Amino acid sequence: MLARLLPLLAVAPGALACTNILVSPHASTDHESMIAYNADSASLYGSLYHYPASKNPEGTMRDVYDWDTGTYLGQVPEAPVTHNVVGNVNSAGLSIGETTFGGLEDLCSPYPGSIVDYGSLIWMTLQRASSAVEAIHTMDMLMNTYGYASEGESFSISDAEGVWVMEVIGKGEGELGAVWVAQRVPDGSVCSHANQARIRTFARDDPKNSLYAKDVVTFARKMGLYDGADEDFSFSDVYDPVTFEGARFCEGRVWSFYSSLLGQSFADEYEDYVTGKNLTNRMPLFVTPPEKLSAADVMHHMRNHFEDSALAFDEDVGSGAFNLPYRWRPLTWTVESDPDNSYVNERAIGTQQTGWNFVSVIRPSMPKALQAVIWFGVDDSATTVRVPVYGAATRVPPSFAGAGAQDGVVPPMMTFSTDSAFYVFNLAANWAYSRWADIYPVMLERILDAEAGLAAGLKKVDDEVLVMAQNGDMGGAVEAATEWGVQAGDKLTKEWFNFFGELFVRFRDGYDIQQDLNDPECGCSVGGDGYNKDTYERIVAETGDQYKELGGGGGEHAVGPTADEKISRKTKSKLALKAFL
Ligand SMILES: *[C@@H]1O[C@H](CO)[C@@H](O)[C@H](O)[C@H]1NC(C)=O
Repeated sequence: MLARLLPLLAVAPGALACTNILVSPHASTDHESMIAYNADSASLYGSLYHYPASKNPEGTMRDVYDWDTGTYLGQVPEAPVTHNVVGNVNSAGLSIGETTFGGLEDLCSPYPGSIVDYGSLIWMTLQRASSAVEAIHTMDMLMNTYGYASEGESFSISDAEGVWVMEVIGKGEGELGAVWVAQRVPDGSVCSHANQARIRTFARDDPKNSLYAKDVVTFARKMGLYDGADEDFSFSDVYDPVTFEGARFCEGRVWSFYSSLLGQSFADEYEDYVTGKNLTNRMPLFVTPPEKLSAADVMHHMRNHFEDSALAFDEDVGSGAFNLPYRWRPLTWTVESDPDNSYVNERAIGTQQTGWNFVSVIRPSMPKALQAVIWFGVDDSATTVRVPVYGAATRVPPSFAGAGAQDGVVPPMMTFSTDSAFYVFNLAANWAYSRWADIYPVMLERILDAEAGLAAGLKKVDDEVLVMAQNGDMGGAVEAATEWGVQAGDKLTKEWFNFFGELFVRFRDGYDIQQDLNDPECGCSVGGDGYNKDTYERIVAETGDQYKELGGGGGEHAVGPTADEKISRKTKSKLALKAFL
């Protein structure tokens, strides 16, 4: 989804950001390709889209609506045969995600009559293509035949062989189509992109690893955007030059992920870049993690909030009394005491405005139809639990299911329902935001338990459906895989609503109330120790004597924790986090 609001597009909905993590097979513990994706927009309702496999007689047309706005864009011929598509995976072992970088403003206004926006491009390609390279060529064909109706995008594209990053920008109002470069993530490495184009120079004679639009350089020359040597041409520097906002709001999230893998030396090396102080100190496109990543590790990285880094925002007064690692929009703000400057509200990988998110896994050990699994979650990737659904599934869990703006459908955003995974997960997340340092460690433990349970369930059903497929009963295998995902998703939604109830009972009214069967009054013990130490210090610094007990105070009259007696909330939550990760 959209990155930065260009001046002319300042009315675009919400304040948007997205983060993708791409893991090549040899960088994963199970030799699987993985893509993690957060679709971030305050106006995006979280639901799992499903496009059943179809056969279409010649002349069948498909209506295309813009994913961001629901605007009707036109019709394109439907493919004669389409794959089953569940969210961002299909029944042919392919997955596609994206983050929007925008890019040069002149190239963001589409050629008149362009029909294919970036969302429709993803779902139409998943319906048509069976491999990452085929997907790249399909996307090129769709954009150049029917016109590309969106801003610059980085796409993540994976199959069982590997993972590609493809960066695309339209040619503006003067010319149909788009230019692009696609790079395969070297096997053993990982990549990440987050609303800033990242591909720079690229090989011209290595089609296994590097593909590109033939006119990607000549178009730039023609537009007066580039006059250097062909081999020095940098897609990102020409079509989406890094600005302060690109570095800090966007590349900062890539930096946080790469630093989590590679440690403090990486963080230090590129801190001047992501803080916008040295925009030429670009990070590598790919990095090689010292240890291979599992799907659970990728989910862990998608919970990142810049904790313990130079961009951490869970420690100052803006984090409230409970170290909340979130800042509410808008993204930039000003103060009367410093009218000449504006300030930023950092955006982290885990962010409140995520509509839906996933980690897709393509497993080469399975038959092609059963290779792709989408671990699909709704809302914030730090508070979500993702349910695994097969790309071949012919039904999806009703509590997660739904159409979107790209289908010409207005989702039920304004209707609260405990049958909706989106509202159930939002309910629990917003409760956690209210007392983060107290509630999140408890929530995280439950998230990890739920993920482990679902991983074990998936393993079991994988083993069962593999046997069925090997015995020639692919229909039975797909039905068993489908039914398992439907049950798992709806069970998860119910469990999470009950879990919200548990959290509510325990953390009501500022207390920490736990069961104590030996207590005859309430069967409970009422605990909780108020705010953390830093918050009390801040209150005194701000108010002086206003809250001071006169006549000595202290001792028996003291309320709340003293700094010496109690471990601070923050330390506690950090210890708890450490124990669970
Ligand atoms: C900015 O980064 C580039 C690339 O690493 C480096 O060559 C240059 O010296 C840096 N500039 C400053 C002012 O630190």
